[in-house]
Amino acid sequence: MSPTCSRDGRPKPPERMQKMKTALVTGAAGFIGSTLVDRLLADGWGVVGVDSFEDYYPREYKDRNLGTARLSTDFRMIERSIVSMAEREDCVIADAIAEADVVFHLAAQPGVRASWGSGFRHYSDNNVLGTQLVLEACRAAGTPRVVYASSSSVYGDTDQLPMVETARCLPFSPYGVSKLAGESLCYLYHRNYGLNTVGLRFFTVYGPRQRPDMGFHRFIRAVLEGRELCIYGDGNQTRDFTYVADIVEGLIAAASVDAGGEVVNLGGGSRVSVCQVLDIIGEVLAAEVKVRMAERQAGDVGDTWAALGHARDILGYKPRTSLREGIEAEAAWLRGLAEDPGFPWGVSGT
Ligand code: NAD
Ligand code: UGA
Repeated sequence: MSPTCSRDGRPKPPERMQKMKTALVTGAAGFIGSTLVDRLLADGWGVVGVDSFEDYYPREYKDRNLGTARLSTDFRMIERSIVSMAEREDCVIADAIAEADVVFHLAAQPGVRASWGSGFRHYSDNNVLGTQLVLEACRAAGTPRVVYASSSSVYGDTDQLPMVETARCLPFSPYGVSKLAGESLCYLYHRNYGLNTVGLRFFTVYGPRQRPDMGFHRFIRAVLEGRELCIYGDGNQTRDFTYVADIVEGLIAAASVDAGGEVVNLGGGSRVSVCQVLDIIGEVLAAEVKVRMAERQAGDVGDTWAALGHARDILGYKPRTSLREGIEAEAAWLRGLAEDPGFPWGVSGT
């Protein structure tokens, strides 16, 4: 099917944006996307954000995330689903992609544990079909670089640690399957059409703006509120937790590298158990950590740990933020939210 969108007869972007290097960020209102947007603007890029404000967690988080960006005249937001590109007459996002020097594709339905059952529809639509539509628009536009947000979840439940990019990938959750499908789509658009794609495999990201369904957010909030938190399994599962600013550093590096078709791990540089994390949170907040144990959740892998040699060689990547510093930053952000008595927290802390 040939592309039907063109700029003919459509309004041109502001003069100023045409002269600057322009990045298009899908998922721009989310945790990682909005942090990337702020960094790109600070670095002097023109930025077009695309986000459909999915209701997986409350919109108020996302509006706050974009608070600084929206003050910038170099930022433009398109509130629309990437899946709208499936409608042949809907060219709004494709036209914006045609103006971009780099497309950072972060829009997705995230979350490992919610990807079972009827919820899978969101993962197949947003992560698989959505990625195919973004790549198709990039191919039609000849986009110079496409950076795809992949996930450690593609590796699955393996004892081959650290996880190396050349390992066989057998995801353990439907979410992981959808992220691996996105990666494979990037690879085949590279091989067939020469699209300059790179897939970055993020390992459990944390820090300010973290989603309210994720571990650190739930743990810190429960301790701040003096509530019990819930550990899935025995708490000995390990993760290579990665601070969000380090992830953004890797994304920025990927925007200036010709890494055609490659996949690259972005990890935090250490492997820590959930119980060890809770010890640090207790120390940082100088508060008691009350714990309740629950069953290990379907889709949760035992361990993750990123081999970082490839990231170092290709991107010059080196994580810089210690777990303690990162937890302090996330706790400060959560304390700030708690000052707003009407804030709709969304996903509960248990
Ligand atoms: P997030 O939910 O905060 O951000 C994703 C954003 O994408 C949301 O604002 C959502 O509204 C938007 N979105 C979803 N479907 C869309 C669609 N069809 N059209 C337009 N916008 C859409 O999640 P996050 O944690 O910031 O994750 C960002 C990316 O990084 C995702 O691709 C995720 O799979 C990947 N990732 C995240 C982690 C992590 O630990 N947070 C780890 C590995 C990979
Ligand atoms: C995270 C993200 O949610 C995914 O979107 C992402 O793709 C994935 O990282 C990745 O690295 O690819 P996850 O590792 O499950 O997934 O991150 P958290 O939700 O922060 O959970 C971390 C650990 O804490 C898991 O072992 C989980 O079982 C545990 N946990 C989480 C609890 O014990 N209790 C909770 O209330 C929440």
